[in-house]
Amino acid sequence: MFTPQGPTLRELTVQALSSVEHGYDLLAPKFDATPFRTSDRILSSVTRALEGLGPFDAGLDVCCGTGAGLPVLRSVCAGRVTGVDFSANMLAEARRRHPAATLVRADALALPFTASFGLAVSFGAFGHFLPDAQRTLFAQVHAALRPGGLLAFPLPAPPPVGSRAYWTLWAFDAAMRVRNAVLRPPFVMYYRTFRLPDVRTRLEEAGYEVAHRPLPEFGTREDGSPRCRLVLARKAGESAAEEAGEVREGDRPTAPRRR
Ligand SMILES: C[S@@+](CC[C@H](N)C(=O)[O-])C[C@H]1O[C@@H](n2cnc3c(N)ncnc32)[C@H](O)[C@@H]1O
Repeated sequence: MFTPQGPTLRELTVQALSSVEHGYDLLAPKFDATPFRTSDRILSSVTRALEGLGPFDAGLDVCCGTGAGLPVLRSVCAGRVTGVDFSANMLAEARRRHPAATLVRADALALPFTASFGLAVSFGAFGHFLPDAQRTLFAQVHAALRPGGLLAFPLPAPPPVGSRAYWTLWAFDAAMRVRNAVLRPPFVMYYRTFRLPDVRTRLEEAGYEVAHRPLPEFGTREDGSPRCRLVLARKAGESAAEEAGEVREGDRPTAPRRR
């Protein structure tokens, strides 16, 4: 939760009245003291799950912010680790914390990479993308992955309908819709626009083969379903891409094929 080192309510309000990019520029110095930074518990759990799926060569953290996900990539990737984000100040914080990483300022909806990575991860950022933008985002990451490459991200289960958490997120999203109906620039941040069945469909439409597995550290809900899953979206492998005439000589993966 929020701590005395984190932003004040006034600072958060000013952030939420800005664009997403400028809002994060303002929040950057205090971002790691907010609950918006992905928790170490989730990061370790994802690392453990990915360790069993490698080896991976180069890794990309999409919407890396201050770099919470970069150590995950460092643990499971043998090659270069890259973070991409459009907030210059978030990247400056990431650069300070992770000097060995390559940090690129770019819009995730127009990624400047082609068939470059064996693994892409993303943490805590999908709420900034409305459904149409999610389609573009998934397509951009797909283009950035090598044939056979993997996009992986954690996806917590939604709170049970009618629970306190359910109504809190519902109220947050409703307030955001009102704010965006009356104020410009919009601040796109919604909690209820990223649900597994829809996400799966959008990923499949973008050309991935989709699987998911529970992150066991988070346990199960009363109905036995996992509290948090790792979504694994795989770009078709080399042979399928070759059949489709997609692989250029310079794009060949350096890591062993995993399928
Ligand atoms: C909640 S933060 C998450 C940061 C980090 N991944 C983490 O888990 O701590 C969301 C990040 O997404 C970035 N972001 C949002 N929309 C973006 C876009 N279209 N292109 C690039 N970065 C974007 C923001 O600048 C911010 O750094």
